[in-house]
Amino acid sequence: MRSVAGLVVVIVAVFVGGAGAFPGGTPSYQTDVAPYCAGCHSSRNLEMLEGGHDRAKKETAERKHISLILSGQKGYASLTETDRKTLAEQIRAVDEASTVSITAPAQVLAGEVFPVTVQVTGGAGPVVAIALVDRAHRWYARPAASAGWSSAAPPQVTGPDGQLQTAWLEKRPAEDGREISFVNITGVEADAATGRWSSASVVFTLRAPLEPGTLPLAAAYLYGTEKATVLGYTTNAVGWKEPRGGLGGASGRVLFSDVSQIEVVPAAPPAPAGAPPPVE
Ligand code: HEC
Repeated sequence: MRSVAGLVVVIVAVFVGGAGAFPGGTPSYQTDVAPYCAGCHSSRNLEMLEGGHDRAKKETAERKHISLILSGQKGYASLTETDRKTLAEQIRAVDEASTVSITAPAQVLAGEVFPVTVQVTGGAGPVVAIALVDRAHRWYARPAASAGWSSAAPPQVTGPDGQLQTAWLEKRPAEDGREISFVNITGVEADAATGRWSSASVVFTLRAPLEPGTLPLAAAYLYGTEKATVLGYTTNAVGWKEPRGGLGGASGRVLFSDVSQIEVVPAAPPAPAGAPPPVE
């Protein structure tokens, strides 16, 4: 019962939020996130749930999302069987086209400021989101800062049109600092029927910790699938596209990049044992 009540609260919050809700990204949350927040979303693979709860297998896109489409449950009941099959194929195509990769140095100096580039393709749009985290796990990933990678500058988002995007980040008060490890990217367009997809990138500027060691870094990619095809959404009274699986449905996804293992080496080599003290 408790989880049902919790879901109701979330769904009510989503409805009250209207276009400010999750399909449409997170227009109001300009802060670091961890991917567990995307509880409704389904997973692209089982690895990102490994060692987790019994719930793990139920979270895959095939089980949690596509099987509901094919069996005509919930919002999918109004589609013919042929349309449901087509929708399932188109959703699989969105997933196939949706990728995330991270480019980070293999080695940095303690305290060094360095760039990390994350590139994404696909997603149904109009929004997708990227977060820097410390592992490729839906329930155990922490924001990158918890692993020791602090943000040294506001992330630079290059949208699908090649232009820098600042509007989303500027909603965060300047005095709070805009050095965060999460972004929304807008202007993402997709058409699963013709196979047209967007791509975009983000450059995060990080500062390495002072303590030497090897630390992990990965990107979490949050995107939707249903708005990429006319079969996948309905349009409400105010002209807003609602995923056919509902606002609390499983058509959102969580995907991770590979995990980079970055070595942090001392900034100045320690003086060799027995060496004379440095001359002033
Ligand atoms: C109440 C269920 C629910 C929760 C909780 C949720 N999402 Fe979603 N989210 C969705 C659905 C449904 C979609 C898919 C829209 C589609 O298929 O086109 C989605 C899509 C998205 C998208 C892509 C936007 C779009 O329009 O397709 C982003 C980005 C996103 N979610 C981020 C998040 C983040 C970050 C969190 C945690 C703070 C979160 N979501 C929590 C249901 C949820």
